[in-house]
Amino acid sequence: MENKIFKTLKVVNTLLIVVVLCFIFTLMAFLLLPKGGDVAAAANVAAAPAKPAGPDLSDPAVAKGKEIFTNNCSACHAPTDEVVVGPGLKGVDTRRDLAWITKWVQNPQKVLSSGDKYANDLYKKFNGTQMTAFPNLGEEDIKNVLAYIKAN
Ligand code: HEC
Repeated sequence: MENKIFKTLKVVNTLLIVVVLCFIFTLMAFLLLPKGGDVAAAANVAAAPAKPAGPDLSDPAVAKGKEIFTNNCSACHAPTDEVVVGPGLKGVDTRRDLAWITKWVQNPQKVLSSGDKYANDLYKKFNGTQMTAFPNLGEEDIKNVLAYIKAN
């Protein structure tokens, strides 16, 4: 009889320990796990863009192009489709080929006076604004500028 009571008590005791342990674990989980705000903040950090904004300057053509563009063109052109003094240059390599763009940059006046319709239409659209001539820029320079524009 006594033995039976003892056994029952032992079972109850074990159950009690299990319940208390469960309670402690739940409490610890609540205290130790990050709060909702922390989780959101952590997710925000993870969602931050891995790539820094702007063109990839690790490409030497893009870096050289940016330098040429900044020094000579950015007063009148954006590498996007935004109009500054002249047209935005985004996608210009799909409108004109490299040979045309090189000739144009080296001597816009000459292209205009040759009767080139595209150039003259654009010149009219920009109310006869003269683009500066850059006789020192070669095809390689223009290629770099186009790489920079594309990277934007
Ligand atoms: C003084 C302002 C000015 C500067 C500096 C300038 N441009 Fe221009 N550019 C223009 C204008 C204005 C036009 C529009 C045509 C016109 O009015 O002659 C134009 C047109 C162009 C076009 C034709 C665009 C198209 O949509 O077809 C290209 C390409 C171009 N420029 C490239 C350059 C490059 C490359 C540089 C730098 C090396 C440069 N420009 C510097 C004013 C400028």
